[in-house]
Formats: sequence, C-alpha cells, structure tokens
Amino acid sequence: MGGRMQIDQSDLNYGDFCEMVTAYRRMAVIKAAVDCGIIDGVAGGACTLERLLLITGMKAAEGERFVRLLVSSGILHEHEGLLHLSPFSAAYLQRESEQSQRGVLEFERLLQSRWERLGDQLLEGQGSVVENQHPREYQRRLGLFHQAMHEAAVVRSGELWDAVGPLAAEGFIIDAGAGDGTYLRNFLKCYPGWRTLACDLDDVLARAVADDQVSMHPCNLLDQGERLALVDKHRGTADLLLLSNFIHCYSREEVAVMLADLGALLAPEGMLLIHDFFTDGNGFGALYDLHMLANTYNGRTYTFAETGELLAGAGFAVRRTLALPSMSHVVVAFRA
Ligand SMILES: C[S@@+](CC[C@H](N)C(=O)[O-])C[C@H]1O[C@@H](n2cnc3c(N)ncnc32)[C@H](O)[C@@H]1O
Repeated sequence: MGGRMQIDQSDLNYGDFCEMVTAYRRMAVIKAAVDCGIIDGVAGGACTLERLLLITGMKAAEGERFVRLLVSSGILHEHEGLLHLSPFSAAYLQRESEQSQRGVLEFERLLQSRWERLGDQLLEGQGSVVENQHPREYQRRLGLFHQAMHEAAVVRSGELWDAVGPLAAEGFIIDAGAGDGTYLRNFLKCYPGWRTLACDLDDVLARAVADDQVSMHPCNLLDQGERLALVDKHRGTADLLLLSNFIHCYSREEVAVMLADLGALLAPEGMLLIHDFFTDGNGFGALYDLHMLANTYNGRTYTFAETGELLAGAGFAVRRTLALPSMSHVVVAFRA
C-alpha cells in the first residue's frame, strides 16, 4: 500500500511494513501543524522560524525540529530564511482556501476510534458497534460530516467535470444524493446553460445554500413511493444523471432497486454517471470498503464488474471508466 495507493499484488517488504505501522504518524503531523497554529501563522505572511515560535508559543528546540520536518515533508517551504506555505498546504490546509480540507481533517479524527474497533466489527458483524451519543453530540458530528462532504466535493467535482467533458451547452442534469449541491454548482461553472436538480433527504437539502441556480427535490430515494414520485415528475427528461458517492451507502439489493427506477429519469440518449470509490479501483478504494464496514450499518464499495452488473440489471451498459486524479473513478453508462 504505497503512496499512490495502487493495488499491487507483489510481495510486500519490510519498508512497506514500516510505512503501514507508522501511517498514523503522518496524520499526527498534519494535525499538530494545524492545531499548534503553524499553518495559520505562516498563512498570515511568510515568517522566520523565530517569529513562528513566538506566534505559536512552541518551545524553541521542539518547535524547530517540528518545523524542519514540515519543510522536509513538503508542508512548508523555506526560502532565504523565510517559511511559506507550500502549494499543498495553501490549497488544502489554509483555512481561507476555496479548497480547504480543514473540516475533512476534523471529521477524520472522529472516525479513528471506530477504526480502532474494526476487529470487533469483523467478529460481531457490520453495524454491531453502536455508540450512544447525546443528541447535541450527534448534531455536532452530523455538522462535521456535512462540512467534510462539502470540502471533498469542491475538489472532487472539479476533477469529475474535467474528466467527463466537454458536454453540450444546454441540457438537464439530476444529481441523486446531491449533498449540498456542490457538484451541481461546479457543473454550472462549466455549463451555465444547463438546468439542474438536486435530490437528497429533506434535512440535507435544508443545509444547502438556497439559490435560484440549483432546483431542489427533497426525497428519500430508498422509499419507493418518494422515488417514484420523483421519477414520474421528471421521467425521460434528464440528459445526465449523477450518482456520486451514493451507491456505496447501500447494499447491492437496495442499489439494484433504486437504479432500476432512477434510470427512467434519463432521456433515451441520456448519460448515467456513477462516481465513487471502487473495491478494485486502487488501494484507496479497497480501504474505503472497510471504512464503510467500520462506520456504517450496510455501506460497502463495489468492484467495476459488480457495478457493471448492477447497471445491466437496470438496462444500462458501461461505455467507459475513468480514473480521476484523487483516487475516485467514474463509470459512464448509457441505455443498453
Ligand atoms: C456520501 S454522500 C455524497 C454526497 C455527494 N454526492 C458527493 O459525492 O459528495 C451521500 C449522499 O447521499 C444522500 N443520501 C443517502 N441516502 C439517501 C436517500 N435514501 N435518499 C436521498 N439521499 C440520500 C446523503 O444524504 C448524502 O448527501
């Protein structure tokens, strides 16, 4: 499981072992760089090590060792005695960046305790580890989940629309499981002539910024009545139907039923996009399956073949599969 997270079935070596057992240290480094105010401090303007020690209150010797590590690992850059954010940190760690992933970082911390109980889930079954949370804590975690989903969507939607385009200047796109509509808003930046419709649960869409760019249809897609009401309203009209990070939330049977109905939203030549992580896509996708196992009651990832079968069952044929830069894939399908 190297840095590129490819699936490599050749024998692992002792270097791989060392990387695996110490992977948590890399997370701790990013966490400390943010928590100690180093990222915010340097984002305020390039500064000397002495100034950074003053701003953050780190002890001189310890702070210097840590900053050296941040420079050698590409989180900070040093030029003529001044420390700067690297392009990586400026994009993903800086609070004010459009692509900031600070919420993702915070949300990931919540997931760690569940991962530590992975063995229990393997013995007792997916969904067996139940944490009783105070409603306020539950809401806090839900807020973090939505923030993390939004931040990841800012980056991933750009990658998706780059890979899938160019498309016609006008059309109608439906996003099923749209979250806060970030994929659609980014889509409109490339294709302002399109009509858009975001479908998600009532309370999720309620969090999305309401504007006249993206229409919303709150519904529970697992509920047959609500799903068919959506389909009846827009049957055969969509040029593009997106399911992004949606099928991994559900079992094969549930996905099959939903796909069979939702496919009817598409016009005869309409394009269906399944954007997700795939079990055999790369090491990150394989690990994502276990993320679903540890953190959801029946979420899972699918192989490309399983996805093709699910699509075939709904009357669609896969035309191509594209790997996106940040380890997700998009399966592009049309009516068979
Ligand atoms: C992992 S998030 C993905 C969000 C967005 N599509 C993306 O790729 O970032 C899954 C989304 O599907 C929505 N969802 C899950 N089950 C749903 C259901 N039964 N009906 C409607 N939306 C659902 C969730 O509320 C959430 O917004």
